[in-house]
Amino acid sequence: MDTSEQRIKIALQKSGRLTDHSLDLLARCGLKFTQSKDQLFCYGENMPVDLLLVRDDDIPGLVSEDVCDLGIAGLNVIHEKRLALHQNGSTALFDQIYALDFGHCRLAIAAPEEADYGGPKSLQNTRIATSYVAILEDFLQREGVDADIVYLSGAVEIAPRLGRADFICDLVSSGSTLAANHLREVQTVMKSEAVIIQTREPLSEVKQEWVNRILQRLDGVLQARESKYVMLHAPRSALAEIVALLPGAESPTIIPLDGDNDKVAVHAVCRESDFWETLENLKSAGASSLLVLPVEKMLL
Ligand code: PRP
Ligand code: ZN
Repeated sequence: MDTSEQRIKIALQKSGRLTDHSLDLLARCGLKFTQSKDQLFCYGENMPVDLLLVRDDDIPGLVSEDVCDLGIAGLNVIHEKRLALHQNGSTALFDQIYALDFGHCRLAIAAPEEADYGGPKSLQNTRIATSYVAILEDFLQREGVDADIVYLSGAVEIAPRLGRADFICDLVSSGSTLAANHLREVQTVMKSEAVIIQTREPLSEVKQEWVNRILQRLDGVLQARESKYVMLHAPRSALAEIVALLPGAESPTIIPLDGDNDKVAVHAVCRESDFWETLENLKSAGASSLLVLPVEKMLL
């Protein structure tokens, strides 16, 4: 089972906003790796799963061409590849499995601070610099706007200053790159976050089993991340109201309290990342001894 043909290959961004989160997520799935000297390859020590660290823009292609079985990349590069292939009359041979809830950003149009913008029509007959030609083309077409797309593979934000474009269309996360270049975000083109994709090429039975295992663990990590284990005491008289306040809880456990007939203990797994408001509402409804614990792993 250990020839390189039979090992799962996952493509990850080699350095950028998704790298640390992607590695951390796989570590949480129990995968252990040794990194090669050039840091472009990670050998899976405890599972037949290796990582290839590449440019994020190359990830959809590597998975579509079955060089890698799985890949983690931003929806922006995945959608760009899908549209680019489509515009060439071919199809992307990968499937999107999950959104991973990190790397949130947006592909947006930005203009020099002093420029006017009154909606997509303001882009008519202008020049827009971008690395996302296919997505931008698709957007302009849907808006019925004619504009010149200036392709740049990087440093798109300096194009207006160099006189090469009137607008740019680039990823915005914190917005600090735009601010540093005196640009103003004027139009969202698409929202993005990290997603995991799988090749459409059928895998051997053994490989598919490993892929299923990794995906199941990933799902478990993602579910655990937004889940909390909640314990509280509730007056019997307010039990229904309190249980109804627990977000996403499936049939909580109700436990009698020794020597107290008026109250019960309620234990439940709840789905909510920020629990403060619910906690306050539970308390107002009569709950006491509230305890919220993080959930580390989950297999449903
Ligand atoms: C994007 C984009 C900007 C920057 C914006 O690059 O091209 O340079 O991030 O982020 P900010 O709003 O937080 O300043 P990315 O990290 O995707 O690098 P890449 O284009 O080289 O892959
Ligand atoms: Zn990139």
